[in-house]
Amino acid sequence: MWKDRRLLEILRINHPIIQAPMAGVTNVNSTVATGYCGVLASLGAANFKLDVLRRSIREIRDAGVSVFNVNLFTISEKTSDEGIVPSPELRNLVLGYHDELNLGGLPELENIYGPTWDQLAVLVEEKVPVISFHFGVSANLVEFAKSNGAKVLCSATTVKEAIELEAAGVDVVIAQGFEAGGHRGSFLSPDLPPTVGLFALVPQVVDSVSVPVVAAGGIMDARGVTSALQLGASGVQMGTAFLTCDEFSVSQEWRKQLRETHSEDTLITRAISGKPARAIPNRYVTELEVLDESFLPYPYQYSLSSKLRALANKQENRDFMVMWSGQGSRLGKCQSVSNLIQNLVEDCRVLLS
Ligand SMILES: Cc1cc2nc3c(=O)[nH]c(=O)nc-3n(C[C@H](O)[C@H](O)[C@H](O)COP(=O)(O)O)c2cc1C
Repeated sequence: MWKDRRLLEILRINHPIIQAPMAGVTNVNSTVATGYCGVLASLGAANFKLDVLRRSIREIRDAGVSVFNVNLFTISEKTSDEGIVPSPELRNLVLGYHDELNLGGLPELENIYGPTWDQLAVLVEEKVPVISFHFGVSANLVEFAKSNGAKVLCSATTVKEAIELEAAGVDVVIAQGFEAGGHRGSFLSPDLPPTVGLFALVPQVVDSVSVPVVAAGGIMDARGVTSALQLGASGVQMGTAFLTCDEFSVSQEWRKQLRETHSEDTLITRAISGKPARAIPNRYVTELEVLDESFLPYPYQYSLSSKLRALANKQENRDFMVMWSGQGSRLGKCQSVSNLIQNLVEDCRVLLS
């Protein structure tokens, strides 16, 4: 049923669907369950320590999944936390929340991601078959990633970024539209929220690069998948649609908000991590948004809320949780991942026939 088979052949999958890597949400269990369904399962591993990373890869393989993707961030080269100090306004606001919740002083500010080259060395040693990057990728990194046979993917949010990724040697470009949940993969103007919607982005990227293009952003069901294929994409990458699947690490409160929040109420904000990302706003986001100029550089802004988030997750307190979401979240269903994919493929079959 799939006419364009380039992605299927490059990634060795049955259906042109990639379950998006989602750091903090995807886990070994979700990767295994998704990997059994003939699509590309992805593990978001940007925040994994090296031993956990190696163990997770082996557990996925031991469970019988041979084709899967592990995703890293590429902006974690900065290892010195020196000079990263919150402004008095930011500090006082967050300390106020700490007082309210008896959390004591602010946490140590740290970079929880990377180091990318060390993480990549583990992926290469373990012969991970597919490696994807967010926030751009250099030719050196691509060359190293491919050195043990992996296929390499990376997100682009503009035509210019897609052209740069192809020149760096990636096998597949993921065109990420404005609708997408989580962090923008932008890297040429990383701190400006991109404004290109998926319907405008995909055909222009397809016309500008020769590698297969995968569409990402707001795709929740077979209508979205088949439309993306019509636009010239060779496949899709879906994140938000998986957030309400049983196997993914998403709290009940977050799942509830995903089902109830209207598209226009999700927001691209730098308040959570310091980089533009689409989320469901809550008290933390709304009150911090006014301090836009004071945000710490990514990812230190994220680590500023580490104690708050840990407590909020435990108590399911929506005021201080992080609830990433794409614009299509209300189309999501609570179900197992195998149900989601079975229905998706069946509905695509009907729409394509
Ligand atoms: C909760 C969440 C976490 C995400 N984390 C990552 C990540 O770690 N790495 C990455 O490449 N993309 C990440 N993304 C972005 C996805 O790759 C993809 O672009 C996005 O999910 C597509 O939009 P959709 O959510 O509307 O399907 C994340 C998205 C969400 C919703």
